Amino acid sequence: MTEKQYGGATRRKVNSSLTSDAQGKIDLIKKNPNELEIISCSLTEEKIKNYKKAGEIAKQVKEFIRKLVKPQIPLIELAEKIEAEINKLGAKPAFPTNLSINEIAAHYTPSYEDKTPAHGLLKIDFGVHVNGAIADTAMTFDLENKEENKKLINASESALAEAIEHVKNSKEKSKLNEIGSKIKIKIESLGFYPIINLSGHSLDDYQIHAGLTIPNCDNSNTKELEQGAFAIEPFATTGLGEVFEGKPSGIFNMQKFSNTRDSFTRKVLQFIHENYKTLPFASRWLVKEFGTRALTSLALLKQQGILHEYPQLIEKSKAKVSQAEDSFIIYNGKVEVLT
Ligand code: CO
Repeated sequence: MTEKQYGGATRRKVNSSLTSDAQGKIDLIKKNPNELEIISCSLTEEKIKNYKKAGEIAKQVKEFIRKLVKPQIPLIELAEKIEAEINKLGAKPAFPTNLSINEIAAHYTPSYEDKTPAHGLLKIDFGVHVNGAIADTAMTFDLENKEENKKLINASESALAEAIEHVKNSKEKSKLNEIGSKIKIKIESLGFYPIINLSGHSLDDYQIHAGLTIPNCDNSNTKELEQGAFAIEPFATTGLGEVFEGKPSGIFNMQKFSNTRDSFTRKVLQFIHENYKTLPFASRWLVKEFGTRALTSLALLKQQGILHEYPQLIEKSKAKVSQAEDSFIIYNGKVEVLT
């Protein structure tokens, strides 16, 4: 699941007190002797085990998806089957399955009454978590059998492969801008554009965007990757290479845990806190639990600033977008791809 950049800054941070029980915390950015900033995130043995398990399950879910996806299958059926499979394999969805078609680059998940059938260029971005350790991965399907679609898919996949190879070869020393540069050059060499205001990110306990962004272009950020968990996700397009914010997506996450007057809404918030913590969740998940009454509560909690709702992210010239994404962990000088 991606993150949109606002003038180089990251989106507002979640209230860290929510995860104060979490062991792994991103250390404050430290300066190394070369004056380069290093990002560090402690990985305990237990956490490494959880990340690996999440990755193994994500790989199995990918296989499941490859067999499941076909033109015209309702998006709601796809999402629910993918999420059920994650549960069946002993993990939980880290966020609602994103099923974004054509010019929608990211953050489309079906609502409880969605009737959209799968078609066009379909990006499936899903996450698996084991006790808060997240494996985030995405792939794109061509459901109209067009040469241009296949080329676009190849561009984002090749850029991802190149970026991961770069991280592996540079061990703990890959600079963010160099990763972004590799992605941009690869996609452009294949005749397309990267989406420069979407990026990969660091992962942490119950946090899908843990503070660090991994760009899809050279953003002159020379910070280096150190120990921790990360996701790289190149997007390729025939269009302008930027996204704007579209309609609300029905994907929310909790910004702070605070009091709310209405007792039913309080129950909804309690459920969110217990089940998703700071992870993104879908309005349809709450409709399943509480009925459509939950939608009013979500709107209220959003108004009170307790919840954030992600907007859909649309390519500026409404051109098609492909995406590829993998997660990896860096520890003991090793880079291990999870997904
Ligand atoms: Co992601």
